[in-house]
Amino acid sequence: MQSKDRIRFQGISPEDFRSRAGMDVSEFLELALPKARDVRDQAYAPYSGFRVGAALLVEGGDVFCGANVENASYGLAICAERSAATAAISHGRRGFKAIAIVGADGVGTAPCGTCRQFLSEFNAQLPVVYATGEGYTVTAVDQLLPDAFGPASFSAER
Ligand code: THU
Repeated sequence: MQSKDRIRFQGISPEDFRSRAGMDVSEFLELALPKARDVRDQAYAPYSGFRVGAALLVEGGDVFCGANVENASYGLAICAERSAATAAISHGRRGFKAIAIVGADGVGTAPCGTCRQFLSEFNAQLPVVYATGEGYTVTAVDQLLPDAFGPASFSAER
């Protein structure tokens, strides 16, 4: 993060962020952004050239990272957010606390609709920080995906 970066809160306050993530936004940005940028270097994006990195904080303080992985069959591309989420889940960590997402430096990268739905499954109120052209937007999955369909939509116990 740089001092010129503009932080915009959208539908979530700094206090909301702290109570959900267990740390201040500034601390989260310091922790997660370097990791998201590092993992972005591992992106496999030969078709779009659009490299994305995501860093997902889970309960207990660990951070799981993911990059986007494309395929010659274009529709099979997996976004960075879902790579990070599946990494965490594969390690038995479903307590999602906050996620940071970066694309190329200076390029806005809000999570796609599929990733909003995917993340919502595990924490509909998950704080989300995504890069904008000027800095970062701090928001939450339920702000990005109102009235989500999710586990509670099923009446039967699962
Ligand atoms: N992509 C992500 O990884 N995350 C996003 O939030 C937006 C899009 C990837 C998918 C694809 O590999 C490339 O960016 C261009 O859409």
